[in-house]
Amino acid sequence: MSNRNSSLPILALGLTAALAVLAACGGGGEAGSAAGGADLANGEKVYKQTCATCHGQDANGLPNLGKGLRDNAFVRDTNDARMIEFIKVGRKASDPMNTTGIDMPPKGGNPAMTEKDMADVTAYLRTL
Ligand code: HEC
Repeated sequence: MSNRNSSLPILALGLTAALAVLAACGGGGEAGSAAGGADLANGEKVYKQTCATCHGQDANGLPNLGKGLRDNAFVRDTNDARMIEFIKVGRKASDPMNTTGIDMPPKGGNPAMTEKDMADVTAYLRTL
């Protein structure tokens, strides 16, 4: 036979690589992703770097800045996907849900925060 079909393995490799890239880019953000592979160490880092400014290093809240998030009913009653949506938009003082009259800025004011960061910090909050 003259046809050695030597291109098949290469094609398969290419497909595998393309799928890996797809999984890496599009995999995050679905409802289940936070629960599965949450990185608590990263969640704590995100919390300490961004959220603690208003919610306190110990998450007990800071006067006129942010509420306590320890054993917090909203965190408890809000699923991972909704928590991520919440962090993304924050809660304006004008929001009917707002209880303090103080703004929480979108992503806690850190535009560099990724979907994974938000999932991880959510998982971290659930440990408090
Ligand atoms: C600039 C200050 C500020 C930062 C930074 C901030 N928050 Fe907030 N956050 C607030 C305020 C103020 C409220 C309360 C809004 C209200 O009165 O309902 C709030 C409310 C919340 C609530 C709802 C609590 C409840 O009982 O309703 C959660 C959850 C929360 N923040 C999580 C986070 C997370 C996670 C981060 C970090 C990614 C973060 N916040 C960063 C100010 C902040």
